[in-house]
Amino acid sequence: MEDKDMIICRCEEVTLGEILQAIKDGARDVTGVKRRTRAGMGSCQGSSCERLVEGILRRELKKTQADLKPDPARPPVMPITFGVLGGDQD
Ligand code: FES
Repeated sequence: MEDKDMIICRCEEVTLGEILQAIKDGARDVTGVKRRTRAGMGSCQGSSCERLVEGILRRELKKTQADLKPDPARPPVMPITFGVLGGDQD
């Protein structure tokens, strides 16, 4: 019996139980789990947890690595003004 309270994504404090529930709710790839739980959206951007999430998906869905759609890498984005781009410090 595995511990469903085990933290898989430390940055967002997402547990194994939450990931299993996301899969039960229809997540079929890393992006689907990410959208439902925020696993992989923390400060490390999934470098610590993405492989664990992939492994859980493979095990639960009985898929191979090649069957899973890779998560598209997207850098964190935040809005900034043109003034900041132009060097305005305010
Ligand atoms: S451990 Fe999941 S985003 Fe950092």
